[in-house]
Amino acid sequence: MSNESNVLNSVLSETLKVIRDTSADGDSKLVPEDYSNVLNSVVGETLQLIRDTAAKGEWKLVPEEHGVVTYVGQGIARVKGLPHVESEELVQFEGNALGIAFNLDPDEVGVVLLDESTMIESGSQVRRTNRVLDVPVGESLLGRVVDPVGRPLDDIGPLNAQRRALVECDAPAIMDRAPVDVPLATGTKVVDALIPVGRGQRELILGDRQTGKTALAVDCVLNQKDKNVICVYCAIGQRSSSVAGVIADLRKRQAMPYSIVVVAGGDAPPGLQYTAPYAAMAMGEYFMRQGRDALVIFDDLSCHARAYRELSLLLRRPPGRESFPGDIFYIHSRLLERSTHLRKELGGGSLTALPIVATEEQNISAYIPTNLISITDGQIYLTPGLFQKGILPAVDVGKSVSRVGGEAQLAAYRAVAGDLRLFYSQFEELEVFSRFGSRLDERTRRTLARGRAVREALKQAQYDPLSPSEQIVVLLSATEGLFDDIPSERVAEASARLRQLLPERLPSLLESIEANQKLTASEREAVVKLAREVIHSVWTPPSQ
Ligand SMILES: Nc1ncnc2c1ncn2[C@@H]1O[C@H](COP(=O)(O)OP(=O)(O)OP(=O)(O)O)[C@@H](O)[C@H]1O
Ligand SMILES: [Mg+2]
Repeated sequence: MSNESNVLNSVLSETLKVIRDTSADGDSKLVPEDYSNVLNSVVGETLQLIRDTAAKGEWKLVPEEHGVVTYVGQGIARVKGLPHVESEELVQFEGNALGIAFNLDPDEVGVVLLDESTMIESGSQVRRTNRVLDVPVGESLLGRVVDPVGRPLDDIGPLNAQRRALVECDAPAIMDRAPVDVPLATGTKVVDALIPVGRGQRELILGDRQTGKTALAVDCVLNQKDKNVICVYCAIGQRSSSVAGVIADLRKRQAMPYSIVVVAGGDAPPGLQYTAPYAAMAMGEYFMRQGRDALVIFDDLSCHARAYRELSLLLRRPPGRESFPGDIFYIHSRLLERSTHLRKELGGGSLTALPIVATEEQNISAYIPTNLISITDGQIYLTPGLFQKGILPAVDVGKSVSRVGGEAQLAAYRAVAGDLRLFYSQFEELEVFSRFGSRLDERTRRTLARGRAVREALKQAQYDPLSPSEQIVVLLSATEGLFDDIPSERVAEASARLRQLLPERLPSLLESIEANQKLTASEREAVVKLAREVIHSVWTPPSQ
């Protein structure tokens, strides 16, 4: 009935307005009796319309289930009276705050809040929504900063997304997957040469606080410019200043047009932090299913695990090791299993995941890091020791590995990377031992000099990604021993000069490397010749 009276009211006011406007024009011949005639007929017609519709049975009674909040805590609420609510269903509180039904107990429902708990009162009503959480996906998100529910956090305006996708969905079946065979160029020499990542791979970045984890991942995003890879950066539980820094870097270096930033800051409700990586994954997945390549960065999953632990403890789930709930492994594996390379018949798209995890006191065998190491296809380990020595990026080559990316690496890398890994690990060991001995034989001395030269060549500044050919030329110069005798501070200068001269002096080499061809003997010679010339121009050996 209330609907009927609303319709009637609006019809009446519209009609009166039309009548008044007509009489105001001056050419109206309506007198007050006509007013009531017109009104009567309009009301009659409207009522008839409403009755007809009702008679056709198009008006249905939809039962709505309402519950009552019995307890509100930091990030969770308990609700009585939603007997048919389903697991993970979205529920809505008075004032439009959202929550997810997590614990379904016989007499109450434990709800994880996606909005501040201060918006919810004990005793207020909760409504079922009959749907699970979904987020807007698609092209319109590119260049945007959103929260894990898809609400814009930037000041560009509404999203206007045409499509939505479920936040949680099944990982592609094994038969839908193809081997990883296309490289994902990170632009960082030490990674691309020694720990190569392929499109569709999951590579963990782990290390202590402030060791350059975010910097490495952001550099990878910067390197995807003009490479047709969509990047999703998902910040979970990070400091606002750090997230703002990343967004500013992406904007400044023109990476936003192909990127999406999903933010659940450290001050966001734990429920939002918990859903953030799944939402980011759903956004990346959309592009994968369109046959495109996407990269998703989770910064970082230790904060995600902590947010989940907080929720679980508040919801009184039994705590296990380090107080994490029993399904902590499952929440990360079901997330990372969604990243893959799809078969050609399904579009051949890929979704690469770079989860980040923070270690404490370099303990990579702590609970969450070991879990993630076992879920991913390899790890890039950053250490504070190397960082403090200024060896940046501070990648510990000995403890880093890529289990699938080798197949995808460009053929030309084999010329430099083949023995480099082994040599470099041996050099690091030798360096530690050589500290104790004062007299070294000539062979050891040469190995140490070569190792130091390679280490210098592997160093790389932030925001300076290199193309594969630039990387190969610099590393080849180092492994051929050309940097052995020059002072280490001159290596960076020589490398920069080499990179500068490359397009002009060896254009055919660039083409063949990009075309995934092996380096021929004559190409190697040409590189060595150019490197000699460059070294000569930046440094002359002191006369004996
Ligand atoms: N290759 C590099 N060259 C120079 N500086 C770098 C390099 N990589 C990282 N840095 C600097 O190191 C600092 C720490 O980097 P970053 O914030 O990426 O570390 P993090 O491991 O993500 O830290 P947190 O644990 O706090 O998230 C930053 O100031 C960054 O600019
Ligand atoms: Mg960081």
